[in-house]
Amino acid sequence: MFKISGVACDTLLETCGSPLVVYDENKIDEQIRSYVNNFKSNVFDTEVVYASKAFTCTAMLEKLEQESASIDVVSGGELYVAIQANFPANRIYFHGNNKLDEEIEMALSYHVQTIVIDNMHEVERVVALADKLKQPVDVLIRINPKVEAHTHEFIATATPDSKFGISMDLVDEIKDMIAKIDACTYVTFKGFHSHIGSQILATEGFMAAIDKMVGFIKDINVDVSILNIGGGFGVRYTKEDQPVPTDIMCQTLIEALENALAQAQIQVDKVCMEPGRSIVGEAGYSLYTVGFTKQTQNKTFVFIDGGMADNIRPALYDAKYECIIANKDQQPAVRTYEIAGKCCESGDILIHDALLPEVEANDILVMFTTGAYGYSMASNYNRLNRPAVIFVKDGKARQVIARETFETQMILDVQKDIEL
Ligand code: LLP
Repeated sequence: MFKISGVACDTLLETCGSPLVVYDENKIDEQIRSYVNNFKSNVFDTEVVYASKAFTCTAMLEKLEQESASIDVVSGGELYVAIQANFPANRIYFHGNNKLDEEIEMALSYHVQTIVIDNMHEVERVVALADKLKQPVDVLIRINPKVEAHTHEFIATATPDSKFGISMDLVDEIKDMIAKIDACTYVTFKGFHSHIGSQILATEGFMAAIDKMVGFIKDINVDVSILNIGGGFGVRYTKEDQPVPTDIMCQTLIEALENALAQAQIQVDKVCMEPGRSIVGEAGYSLYTVGFTKQTQNKTFVFIDGGMADNIRPALYDAKYECIIANKDQQPAVRTYEIAGKCCESGDILIHDALLPEVEANDILVMFTTGAYGYSMASNYNRLNRPAVIFVKDGKARQVIARETFETQMILDVQKDIEL
């Protein structure tokens, strides 16, 4: 029987129900530590900022807090989780391309240290609201460095027509933004941010972005205290994916940054990076119970008790995954199966052509590397309950997110007249 950090999958499903999202805590800890320990320089300070959109909950945030990592949030909802978890406000970066006034006010009232500004309109909102609340805040401006990232078009963010940030060619507009910020007593311009995309397996895109950002800082000629180079570091979903190991990626980035800054004769106080997927992705496993198998003209289907509602990535990005049958992990593979979810969509296939031993009802199917953008993008489609999330570590397990129930889903189902 396949085990995750010393806990057998059948035990997990018997005690916690099915389907289940399970994280190996040791793997999360190792990844956070690897980033924090390797993204270090003698020339500037460094900060590892976890992109909490990949997966967030109180237990996850407590871990990051303890390991001296910071976080980014992209909405009032992600910020609310951080506030509830008492995550230190001076280690929160607030992102987003369309922050609502109430979200900006929420960030200011919680004394969030830094807002990452997306556009001129947002400068005006942040300045107005900081003035109104008399609340100081630091800001970075998100720059689009227009670097090709070699990833799925839905997760590339530095294309010429990306909705994120402001193009680095618009120097006058960026100078105007900084002037507006400088004119406000409460808002302090700290520097620039860029993020080129996600699930990037090579270093070239990052190197190009670093060079372009440093060149841009030199040209625009303003004092920059913080440079944030974003996230996007890839993980291994299948054997085709060969990500750069975290320590090597960090050292390569630091070296490139030190060289580029030295060559341009620019000094910054701090460089931040924002890994999300690579901290939680490979630590996460989705456990499902097999219902039926079905033979069609050309395919054999394995029906599982979850699907696109708990993992939209195959349907949305054609994302590839690997799986095993946990209770047959020593048996040889005999044929290929289509791993189909239970949603009423023909596209609800989690894996095509999975090579597995003979599959039967009640087998336990484990999908690997589902820790990032799995639970965080889960929905209630077809009114499925979102699974529970469990952290396991050295033979021990704890629940960190409860399973949704039909009753909790019905909490929002209200009927009341509205006075107009
Ligand atoms: N920083 C910024 C500004 C971002 O927009 C993102 C991701 C990150 C950091 C973290 O990127 P990561 O290290 O996790 O690749 N739902 C998609 C991924 C969307 C990523 C959005 N932004 C997926 O499932 O592949």
